[in-house]
Amino acid sequence: MAETVEHHKVKRVYGRRMGRPMHKARLDVLDTILPRRKVGEELLTEKADKTPDDIFGETVDRLHFEIGFGNGEHLHYIMEQFPDDYFIGAEPYINGMTAFLKDFGSEDVPKNFRVHMDDALMVLNSLKDASVDFLYILNPDPWPKSRHHKRRIVSPQNLEVFARVLKDGGVMLQTTDVDDLAEWMVTQTVNCPHFEWTAERPEDWKTAPNGWMATRYENKGKDAGRSQTYLVYKRRPRS
Ligand SMILES: C[S@@+](CC[C@H](N)C(=O)[O-])C[C@H]1O[C@@H](n2cnc3c(N)ncnc32)[C@H](O)[C@@H]1O
Repeated sequence: MAETVEHHKVKRVYGRRMGRPMHKARLDVLDTILPRRKVGEELLTEKADKTPDDIFGETVDRLHFEIGFGNGEHLHYIMEQFPDDYFIGAEPYINGMTAFLKDFGSEDVPKNFRVHMDDALMVLNSLKDASVDFLYILNPDPWPKSRHHKRRIVSPQNLEVFARVLKDGGVMLQTTDVDDLAEWMVTQTVNCPHFEWTAERPEDWKTAPNGWMATRYENKGKDAGRSQTYLVYKRRPRS
């Protein structure tokens, strides 16, 4: 318990937690769905000792993990594409979390997902090695000022965590419409010995992967004339 309290003393996430005020109906999901589908506090040990089975209370074959899912459009989409898989999404922005959860409407809320309304690293650091099949980092905050670059989620330190939790051959997908950030993410990731960048030619990072669904955020960038970069990496086998 003391450890859980510690988490909240530290400023773990930069950026906003709350945007425009929300109607009560929208906030209701924080009392109804969130308590039933959040990663349990007791599982947030940050000791790399929890399996996906511990989190879901059943056998998990394939696990997808999305860091900073925004309004959750991509997370909903992949849940529809792979109904037999399991999903964890982390998003500290309350408006984003409510947007994602309210989209379940009055239908039965599926049991194959969990959310965390805080720093994704709290969950990733709790997972055992080789737990995750797919890791998504879509349009992370660019933090354009040099003095803020250390806040960027794709950093040498975090890449070690991503590599630890990914299974051998597991896939990490990073996207952005900020050219400087794209260059930063590729440089950091190819310098990390655990990842292999799958691109062979420019079309590979300029073209969306097959079956891709662009989020509103991505479309807004395209409408403003920015081009999206899609960076796909494989976790190299452990020797
Ligand atoms: C620019 S938005 C992109 C949202 C979404 N991925 C999309 O493409 O529409 C980046 C999101 O990352 C979230 N974020 C920032 N740091 C995070 C962290 N440490 N863990 C989880 N989410 C984080 C922010 O709250 C924000 O919603």
